[in-house]
Amino acid sequence: MDSIHTPAFATPADAVRALAPEGPVAIARPHRVKAAADWFKANLPADIFYAVKANPSSWALDALWAAGVRGFDVASEAEVKLVAERFGPEAKLAFMHPVKSRRAIGRAYHDYGVRTFVLDCEEELAKILDETNGAKDLTLIVRLAVSNDGASLPLAAKFGATPDVAATLLRKARGATEELMGVSFHVGSQCMRPVAYTAAMMEANRAIIRAGVLVDVVDVGGGFPARYPGMEPPPMDAYVREITAAFERMFVAQNAQLWAEPGRALVAEAGSIVTRVDLRKDDALYLNDGAYGNLFDATHVKWPFPVKLLRDGGSAAKTAPFRFYGPTCDSIDAAQGPFELPADVREGDHIEIGMLGAYGVAMATRFNGFGDTATVLSADAPWPSMFGAAEAKPAVDQVAEQPGVVRMADRKRSSKPRRK
Ligand SMILES: Cc1ncc(COP(=O)(O)O)c(C=O)c1O
Repeated sequence: MDSIHTPAFATPADAVRALAPEGPVAIARPHRVKAAADWFKANLPADIFYAVKANPSSWALDALWAAGVRGFDVASEAEVKLVAERFGPEAKLAFMHPVKSRRAIGRAYHDYGVRTFVLDCEEELAKILDETNGAKDLTLIVRLAVSNDGASLPLAAKFGATPDVAATLLRKARGATEELMGVSFHVGSQCMRPVAYTAAMMEANRAIIRAGVLVDVVDVGGGFPARYPGMEPPPMDAYVREITAAFERMFVAQNAQLWAEPGRALVAEAGSIVTRVDLRKDDALYLNDGAYGNLFDATHVKWPFPVKLLRDGGSAAKTAPFRFYGPTCDSIDAAQGPFELPADVREGDHIEIGMLGAYGVAMATRFNGFGDTATVLSADAPWPSMFGAAEAKPAVDQVAEQPGVVRMADRKRSSKPRRK
């Protein structure tokens, strides 16, 4: 289990001041996960299955659980184990990776009680039936290929049954289970056009009508957006309106369930990464975190992640554009940005890179011996939110009282004097 430093800090700057961390620091704001989960529960009339891949950290899972989220979209045997062992049988696990190993299917079903499996081809259906000994109590979800036109990060290339095979697959899945059968899709991550959900649901509807089957579940997948500088999505209400209206128009069972698998939207604004400048060469900042660490998306997806200099004693009023290099020896460990920071950034400064609660720590590797990241709780809420103002800002001591927080009593604090 990952561990987290307590007590909580009021801000990431306080954490840096207190800990003088050698490696990168993941900033955890469970109160922002709660705000997002509360919003989804109050506004989207769907069963929520959090996409664990976005951030499997214990503080994020626990914050969701504390907010009443019980559904988890898991993609691997390790994610099944993580969630099942953490929350027990009350957790509803849906194994939503369209290509699973035989062992993963078997263990999920027999050892962890998973009953919901996705598939996008007949071969995968056969694997699921084989490894569950022809179980009749499965909820089988057929993942359909849909347009990813509205997405900033399309995910259409790899998975999804195309219209020519979807009808046959839907009929086979229907015949294979006495329990629920459903459809799912993914409109692509960071979907900027709410109408993309309507278009996908209408594509799914056409496949259902062609197949002539009864469908019990419509799973609209992930794709719900977060706010990055210069990438302002429409308000989340607009997504809810499109989805609920399209659901009404679908030819599905009268008591059909609506599901969603948000990842990014539930955790993005709840996490940041604090990284230290180890060297400056003109406009290039060499950091202690990078593409092989917590900054894969910040490096390769080339979105304008928000950045903030954390330094005591003030900085230049003038800003300048900077490039980032990560700590590994690989030259693709580089982010062109440009990242606008005070012009006098220098060695020893810390930079907070925001909106990295999703697909930040989740993607880190140990390449070159780097990747050791501390996690600290912070009570602030500095970035713009999809879920209203950060009025739910807790007192610092309340943040540390999150369930599941592990006290790192033996965590070494640096005795070195901090560089001024
Ligand atoms: C099957 C599935 N569901 C949900 C998600 C979460 O998507 P997002 O983070 O865009 O909400 C993903 C992301 O890759 C996915 O593959």
